[in-house]
Amino acid sequence: MVLHTLINEIDLKNRIKELAQQIQKDFDNEEIIFICILKGSVFFTTELAKNITSSVILDFMRVSSYSGTHSTGKLNFSLDISENIIDKNVVIIEDIIDTGRTLYYLKNYFKEKKPKVLKICTLLDKKERREFDIEPDYTGFNIPDKFVVGFGLDYDEKYRNLPFIGYLE
Ligand code: IMP
Ligand code: MG
Repeated sequence: MVLHTLINEIDLKNRIKELAQQIQKDFDNEEIIFICILKGSVFFTTELAKNITSSVILDFMRVSSYSGTHSTGKLNFSLDISENIIDKNVVIIEDIIDTGRTLYYLKNYFKEKKPKVLKICTLLDKKERREFDIEPDYTGFNIPDKFVVGFGLDYDEKYRNLPFIGYLE
């Protein structure tokens, strides 16, 4: 397999800064809880948070449905959030939306906890792969149907530490 660059480090950082400014503006500088979906969203979440000057609270959730490059179709929750999100501004931070299965279930799960506002922010979106009815409120980049790695995204736990988004072929 060969690793190609899809989005370079500078373009990533610039776009994430724009997203952060948009989110801060939309929430009127109010406090926001970022729910980072582990492990893939960890780099994206920290980069977004660093570019926000109002108050950000970080929380983490671990859920997985993938093994290798294929979805197993089953969601595993292995870590839940620790913050109480009732009446709070909440943004779910995801690395990538593929079929939409993960976010479809997560959105309903968090909605039941009655946040004041619930938004979805994804770094990448593979729109043509969508099977579940889910629309992100914030998208970094729409990408073609390629298996991407880097900036948190993995292939069997490898490549997460690449500072750019690449794809394997
Ligand atoms: P979905 O539930 O099908 O939308 O898949 C979302 C999850 O699948 C993401 O949070 C990733 O963990 C994983 N995923 C989907 N596509 C890719 C990819 O191209 N590279 C790495 N992980 C991916
Ligand atoms: Mg993920």
